[in-house]
Amino acid sequence: MTSASTNLTDIANRIQTGEVTRIVALTGAGISTAAGVPDFRTPTSGLYDQLAPLKLPYPEAIFHINYFSHTPEPFYAIARARHPRNLRPTISHAFLALLARKNLLSFLFTQNIDSLELDAGVPAEKVLQTHGSWKAQRCHKCKVPYPDDLMQRAIRVGEVPYCLEAGCGGAVKPDVVFFGESLPERYEVEERRLTRKKVDLMLVMGTSLKVAPCSRLPGLIEEGVPRILINREKVGDFGTRKGDICLLGTCDEKVRRLADELGWGDELEGIWAEAVGRKEETNRRGGWDSEEEPGLEESIQKLAEKMTEAGRISQGHRRMLEQHLGEKFAHVLPRKSFG
Ligand code: OAD
Repeated sequence: MTSASTNLTDIANRIQTGEVTRIVALTGAGISTAAGVPDFRTPTSGLYDQLAPLKLPYPEAIFHINYFSHTPEPFYAIARARHPRNLRPTISHAFLALLARKNLLSFLFTQNIDSLELDAGVPAEKVLQTHGSWKAQRCHKCKVPYPDDLMQRAIRVGEVPYCLEAGCGGAVKPDVVFFGESLPERYEVEERRLTRKKVDLMLVMGTSLKVAPCSRLPGLIEEGVPRILINREKVGDFGTRKGDICLLGTCDEKVRRLADELGWGDELEGIWAEAVGRKEETNRRGGWDSEEEPGLEESIQKLAEKMTEAGRISQGHRRMLEQHLGEKFAHVLPRKSFG
């Protein structure tokens, strides 16, 4: 019987001898939790459980385009806490950059919108941010772009920015892909390419594989090609194929182990330190660093209170109307019709 560690040694040997040169990676929120952004589905700490006070129809509604089109406030309540302005890449992001530097990274599909893999130094042409990013924004209705400085202000104060076009009034949305929207056109191209090109190894990190279409990517890899999963728990169909290696634990810990097996430990730490330094410099220039951060919990609680208050006002308004209409039409409408 072979264990994950002997399998890992074997993979490391195959990389060192040049047998494995084309690695395709897929990442999710779990590679950024160490940077301070909660993932989505981990019970209690994940964003979706934290949204409970907002009493959304269902947690993912916060990222559904139909819900956003009439109630964008919840998205902006959490925007600041999820915005990558003062985040630093993790060692896992640096590992991807190291693979690229060694010409071993064929392609990276990421479901994350924080761009930390780019900050770490993965070349843009090697990455597809399948769910978009915060780099630009536009009105969700008329699609006219919205200025960066106004967007930054809106995110800072947690207020919904609205379209500046006369008569539009649509809420502005960053160029991230919401449920109910299409993925970037390049997704299909890259997915097709994945089924055609030669892949020597697939590396999946920090994702629950619960959201299509990225969830199907590991299944598109040819049988017999090794697949490594680095995640807190087993996900998807990992473990069902002969070549699967499941490294269960935190991404950063397992990535360091893999780098050590490869004899790349020091180089990895060096790349990481450089990437963090670069990002800290950018953050300083952007002016986000110096500010007091309201926590995610606090922002959610504040909005929940506002929504309850608004609910109370509309209840009061409704009662006032009922009374008014009741008096006005008492002769034609039975009172209970307003109950
Ligand atoms: P999820 O929150 O669904 O899954 C994150 C996975 O990473 C879970 O399996 C966690 O156990 C694991 N994890 C968390 N921290 C980890 C760590 N430090 N080390 C190892 N594993 C860790 O996030 P995604 O799979 O990325 O889409 O979610 C996919 C999509 O669902 C997101 O892009 C987002 C969301 O709704 C949209 O909003 C459109």
